[in-house]
Amino acid sequence: MDKIVIHGGERLEGEVCVSGSKNAALPILVSSLLTDGWNTFHNIPDLVDVRTIKKLLKSFGAEVEEGEPLRINAGKIGSCEASYDLVKTMRASILVLGPLVARMGMARVSLPGGCAIGARPVNIHIKALEALGAKINLKDGYIEAKASRLKGATVYFDIPTVTGTENIMMAACLAKGTTLLENSAREPEIMNLAEVLNDMGAKISGAGTDVIRIEGVDSLHPVEATVIPDRIEAGTFMIAVGMTGGDVKIKGCEPGHLDALIAKLRDTGMDITIIDGGIRVVSKGKIKSVDIKTLPYPGFPTDLQAQMMAFMAVGNGLSVITETVFENRFMHVSELMRMGADIVIEGNNAIVKGNPKLRGAQVMATDLRASASLILAGLVAEGTTELSRVYHIDRGYQKIEEKLTSLGANIRRVKG
Ligand code: EPU
Repeated sequence: MDKIVIHGGERLEGEVCVSGSKNAALPILVSSLLTDGWNTFHNIPDLVDVRTIKKLLKSFGAEVEEGEPLRINAGKIGSCEASYDLVKTMRASILVLGPLVARMGMARVSLPGGCAIGARPVNIHIKALEALGAKINLKDGYIEAKASRLKGATVYFDIPTVTGTENIMMAACLAKGTTLLENSAREPEIMNLAEVLNDMGAKISGAGTDVIRIEGVDSLHPVEATVIPDRIEAGTFMIAVGMTGGDVKIKGCEPGHLDALIAKLRDTGMDITIIDGGIRVVSKGKIKSVDIKTLPYPGFPTDLQAQMMAFMAVGNGLSVITETVFENRFMHVSELMRMGADIVIEGNNAIVKGNPKLRGAQVMATDLRASASLILAGLVAEGTTELSRVYHIDRGYQKIEEKLTSLGANIRRVKG
């Protein structure tokens, strides 16, 4: 298995370009299931999770033409089953449930099961689909859903679930009548998906607010669409600059999607300016510790919590990091502690006592964002850090070691 080897201590400097957003690309590629004909998608990142969703779409009979742009034709759907083998490797596979029922009248999708960051049930997706009139049967580890035609309804999400909102928003596009999604998630990825669906002929308003209104239509048509930049990748680079005392222009990102992080990084003492086509991030040296609480958008993203913890581990004070979105997203703590971080977990709080000196160590990635945090720690640690299980990082960061190398980091992948 591949490893990433980092010799810490290099200051990051220069310019880096952000790739397309993983969490926007996944539902947008899935939305092609609602159309008959060739869709053209720009700015799709080359990531393992994107390859998995393409595999899933192909397993239904969709044609995929690789390249930039990526083209998908889901005109002929032969199978409506998402197998355990594919769903277990990527929970976002659940996104096909709503679109398949809406277009084909049926779907059989494996229940995802738990994962490294929490139990992550899909009960809210299922309940919402039932509210739209689908008959759901949970059998042999699979969700079986049927509906001759979904019917618009008012759905209240108990928790503002991101993929749940996307799933039901896609399903409701082809339902008969009007659907109201209350307490919807407000992430930019949802707005990106809604724009794409509207270009396909859907009638969605309110995406980006907590009430989304969808007037059902009889059919949707293929589109040409572009995926937004990855705000989590951009944020990861911004934090890396803060940790390494650097000065970097992060190009191609959308500053408006990063308000919560920008505010926090400014509180740590960093200088952040919006420039033409991106953000310039400059570290001012001494890192002031700050407290973080993860929340649904526009709050501080849980997908940057692990990276921020690595940052606070080298801060100059005490930081309390509270995780409210997932119940078990502190798997990186014990690995950061192997590098000398001083962290105590109390319930859903991590109390991080800053210590500007971390030491390189052999560490293991436990999930995607945990691996990013360990790479960041390795960039500033004294000596060599060797990160194993790097397949986690390949799920969500395109060419991360190449991008960091171009900024001056001493990082390489060792094939194994
Ligand atoms: N939840 C339920 N029941 C449900 C759905 C969600 O209890 O039916 C709970 C979850 O267990 C969690 C909370 O609601 O505690 C919020 O989860 P959400 O459904 O919003 O998460 P998700 O849609 O499964 C997406 C991203 C995650 C990101 C979260 C939160 C995609 C493909 N995934 O997951 O991204 O952490 O939203 O922002 O969009 C990542 O990229 O590393 C990643 C994990």
